[in-house]
Amino acid sequence: MIILDGKKTSNDIKSELSVLVDELMKKGKRPPHLAAVLVGNDGASLTYVGSKVRSCEKIGYLSTLIHLPETTSEDELLQQINSLNTDKEVDGFIVQLPLPKHIDEEKVLMAVDPHKDVDGFHPTNFGKMALDMESFVPATPYGIVELLDRYRIDISGKHAVVIGRSNIVGRPMSILLSRKSSPGNATVTLTHSRTKNLKAITKEADIVVSALGVPNFLTQDMIKQGAIIIDVGITRVPDDSKPKGYVITGDVNYENVKEKASYITPVPGGVGPMTIAMLLQNTYHAYSRYADL
Ligand code: GUN
Repeated sequence: MIILDGKKTSNDIKSELSVLVDELMKKGKRPPHLAAVLVGNDGASLTYVGSKVRSCEKIGYLSTLIHLPETTSEDELLQQINSLNTDKEVDGFIVQLPLPKHIDEEKVLMAVDPHKDVDGFHPTNFGKMALDMESFVPATPYGIVELLDRYRIDISGKHAVVIGRSNIVGRPMSILLSRKSSPGNATVTLTHSRTKNLKAITKEADIVVSALGVPNFLTQDMIKQGAIIIDVGITRVPDDSKPKGYVITGDVNYENVKEKASYITPVPGGVGPMTIAMLLQNTYHAYSRYADL
């Protein structure tokens, strides 16, 4: 079994990007600039946004965190988005999800200029991705295909089973794996809460991507010998013995599954760091398209 080390791979990608930033600085250009909008005080979102901002600083990007109160109205948020859309000093931005219940997520994502939509959530980018056109690709599934690519895992013709059909992970993942490109060309089954007899399907999979959010859900009786296992789960499970009072737990019962898998991503240190690296990569693309390089 080989561990797909997302931490190391993401550090490689960040080093490559920081070399590009150094070159820009030598030419007297400004660095790429990513902004993040966070509404409210959800603990997990604060952590994710914090690490996105820190990663920017580490590689020499500019970053701006716009932290708005939970009580922010939809109109106020839309105004903020509009000002980021027109700010020439900001190359790309994200609106951290989930948003408070009184705000219409769809309306907000639709308001983001597709040219600055480094999350790849706007229908223009999502549609382009589905059509194999150049676009911003959502960072989590993008990070997964990048990880497979950097470990030279050929998924062409293989059966990939994706668990979970969220707009952020499962659905774009199913599109990327089946694209006529490399990595891609997999035969994909997208499963979800209404899927019948999931185990019979996952047992046929050469590659399983689990994005369900149920800790330790995937066990060895659900996979075939030598399967590639990608764990997108990052649930906070209460644990009083830990300083933070919780432990981040994946969808995959790692200890139980690891010897049966050919490759496996750990949690933490697998898909999570890759998501951040690909967000930085998307920001570089946004910058390159608009800055005078
Ligand atoms: N919430 C969970 N994952 C993501 C992500 O990739 N981007 C944004 N904006 N919000 C998220």
